[in-house]
Amino acid sequence: MEALKIIHGSSLLLVILVLLASALSSANARVHEHQFVVQAAKVKRLCKTHNTITVNGQFPGPTLEINNGDTLVVKVTNKARYNVTIHWHGVRQMRTGWADGPEFVTQCPIRPGGSYTYRFTIQGQEGTLWWHAHSSWLRATVYGALIIRPREGEPYPFPKPKCETPILLGEWWDTNPIDVLRQATRTGAAPNVSDAYTINGQPGDLYKCSSQDTTVVPIDSGETHLLRVINAALNQPLFFTVANHKLTVVGADASYLKPFTTNVLMLGPGQTTDVLITGDQPSSRYYMAARAYQSAQNAPFDNTTTTAILQYKSANHHAKGGPSIKPVMPQLPAYNDTNTVTAFSNKFRSPRKAEVPTEIDENLFFTVGLGLNKCPPNFRKRRCQGPNGTRFTASMNNVSFVLPRNISILQAHQLGVPNVFTTDFPANPPVKFDYTGNVSRSLWQPVPGTKVYKLKYGSRVQVVLQDTNIVTPEDHPIHLHGYDFYIVAEGFGNFNPKKDTAKFNLVDPPLRNTVAVPSNGWAVIRFVADNPGAWIMHCHLDVHINWGLAMVFLVENGVGKLQSIEPPPADLPLC
Ligand code: C2O
Repeated sequence: MEALKIIHGSSLLLVILVLLASALSSANARVHEHQFVVQAAKVKRLCKTHNTITVNGQFPGPTLEINNGDTLVVKVTNKARYNVTIHWHGVRQMRTGWADGPEFVTQCPIRPGGSYTYRFTIQGQEGTLWWHAHSSWLRATVYGALIIRPREGEPYPFPKPKCETPILLGEWWDTNPIDVLRQATRTGAAPNVSDAYTINGQPGDLYKCSSQDTTVVPIDSGETHLLRVINAALNQPLFFTVANHKLTVVGADASYLKPFTTNVLMLGPGQTTDVLITGDQPSSRYYMAARAYQSAQNAPFDNTTTTAILQYKSANHHAKGGPSIKPVMPQLPAYNDTNTVTAFSNKFRSPRKAEVPTEIDENLFFTVGLGLNKCPPNFRKRRCQGPNGTRFTASMNNVSFVLPRNISILQAHQLGVPNVFTTDFPANPPVKFDYTGNVSRSLWQPVPGTKVYKLKYGSRVQVVLQDTNIVTPEDHPIHLHGYDFYIVAEGFGNFNPKKDTAKFNLVDPPLRNTVAVPSNGWAVIRFVADNPGAWIMHCHLDVHINWGLAMVFLVENGVGKLQSIEPPPADLPLC
């Protein structure tokens, strides 16, 4: 009897303690309300004034700064002439899939004149993410940084930097990007390549009419700064480097890493990398620069270089009347330097032993790659301007993904609306072939479809992402919504389950939301399907989404109270 009382007493104490702790942490957590007005604004770039779609007239858009555990409430009002949605790239959106944003996947687009309020809470993510439009090619100019600091009073797992600067790498067209996409859709050819890359919206000194507005990042001798580098480019993986300075990588995609130093980063579109940089060089001016990593063969690409200036505060850069010190230009890897990319990605490790699923319930193998469709009989020649009179396409497991038009997949699933999608996305390629060899032309034409793959709540998933040599091999940045995944291995050629499983890192693999699948190679990712909803997985080269390089995981509700998606918000746009 006495013993029972003691147990009772101590468990009561425990309950009180838990309640107290959660009250304290929710007292710290804040709600941040923002208004995003999507609107055209005059933006001067490359000697011309453009009517650019922006958020609140800003390009790049506003930087959101919050702490882990905080809630964001963003009311988006569409004052542009295009449909729009906003995606919070990398935010896990636990049970709040309605706020994820990809059009026709989790919501209908916000029509011109309409609005929608995105509400979600950051749970256990720290570092750098970003937000961007997820409709047509609007994200060419509609994007911004989303900075998540540790909970208040909690430190970084590295010495506190003196300053923090987001470095948004972008891609700029001298014409309306929406028209570039429309033209490509009409002709079936690859879209025109961009005219410039940008750092925080500015192309920099090496472009015409741009040197006045080059982004300047001040630093002082001895200081250590945190650069939050984001590849927001539409279609181009990029190298990034700073002249004469070492970069210490401490995080990527809002997960920390075992720190390592490097001279150069490679980021696929969608990826972020947090680096520390120390002012340990002679007081002067140094370029930070980004240019293409181009793995596709015989494909035109934008080979220009964007720069910003790392400027020591003590540098005498404005000697009266005289010219400023000419910044030091760094060396960048060759455009096709895959070895540098491999060496860089091989250094990624989680800081400590990771909770990688070891038992696997769903063992999936997805090919990712391009294709060429024969010209349909009812099409005129001018609509088939791809190689040899074809039209470009792309697929995963030979399914070229088609978005629904009248309802989103998540709404259709929730309401039981039939004929919107089918649940037969294949777990394996329908035909096995030498993926990275010489692929028979009969395998170049995928089948269009809106197919999803169903996952039971809590299932442990492994996906082998296998690049193909169809049309050209290419480094595809594959992004999964609603999840972070462990990248347990990467390699070249065809994935071989007999040999390559030996290379799996199940101890400290990096946790990311976007994996750069090696060109003519493969990557293996693992995650636990603990977030119900409709989650698109796609190549983050936007033109490849348009061609169909995407699929959707439909994760079912679990049985527990906190294992179901929340009900849809009342203002969820209808089609
Ligand atoms: Cu950052 Cu679906 O994308």
